[in-house]
Amino acid sequence: MRLTGKTAVITGAAGDLGRALAQRFAAEGVAGLVLSDRDPAALDAAADAVEGAGTKVSTLVADVSDRAAVDAVVDLAAETHGRLDVMINNAGVLGPTARIHRQTATNWRRVLDVNFFGALHGVESALRVMRPQRGGVIINTASIAGLTSWAFAAPYGVSKAAVIQLTKVAAVEYAEDKVRVNCVCPGVFPSAIHAENGAEAMALMAQRHPLGLGNALDVTGAFVYLAADESRWTTGAVLTVDGGCTAL
Ligand SMILES: NC(=O)c1ccc[n+]([C@@H]2O[C@H](COP(=O)([O-])OP(=O)(O)OC[C@H]3O[C@@H](n4cnc5c(N)ncnc54)[C@H](O)[C@@H]3O)[C@@H](O)[C@H]2O)c1
Repeated sequence: MRLTGKTAVITGAAGDLGRALAQRFAAEGVAGLVLSDRDPAALDAAADAVEGAGTKVSTLVADVSDRAAVDAVVDLAAETHGRLDVMINNAGVLGPTARIHRQTATNWRRVLDVNFFGALHGVESALRVMRPQRGGVIINTASIAGLTSWAFAAPYGVSKAAVIQLTKVAAVEYAEDKVRVNCVCPGVFPSAIHAENGAEAMALMAQRHPLGLGNALDVTGAFVYLAADESRWTTGAVLTVDGGCTAL
């Protein structure tokens, strides 16, 4: 087990990747998990599904676009477990798909509020605990959409590019506090975020992945590596897990 004794927060924990991360982290021996999402019923179900002897699971409903709500999640972890080792900023939305001239200001703001400001709030909030404790790991869920062009999803791609840049700058700024900041850029895997995408759109996306579309579990190993002590010399990394998509 690679995460024995650690405490982790996961936002967007009721979603497909968030649930897979919670289950994988418990299987890797994490001692404390604080799961958060804006969807209360799905969050309870996600917590119930975590199986890990010795893993204490807490939940708190929070909208990541609200900095105070994210602070409350981080505070819960720090108060319950006395420290926070791993902060995973994973909540995200795709937003309405349309070409740029058909995107509204409301769409742009909503997607940036959740994907970019949500991650920023998680970084800021975790630093309040990790800097004084002289260590910790922040992992942002970015996307290959922040590295390559995905038509009809400009707000999403721009928000994820911003998350990647936030990751790199934060990694440099907080290395002296022994806080590592990395991001994972998954390729496309079926999840609720694609609920509005039909079979044709998913098939087109699959064509851009030499190994085909993945699944949430395929992505979790990268998070385990970045959370574990074996990655102690890795910070500012932009780790693609994408079935070869960005190699094309
Ligand atoms: N599925 C993919 O193809 C894919 C690819 C690359 C990156 N990602 C990223 O992975 C992460 C997880 O997505 P997923 O695929 O599991 O989708 P998902 O829709 O299953 O999960 C997203 C979760 O985030 C939650 N959420 C949304 N807005 C929120 C808010 N304001 N506050 C708190 N929680 C909120 C949702 O309730 C949901 O539970 C996202 O950041 C997404 O952008 C997904």
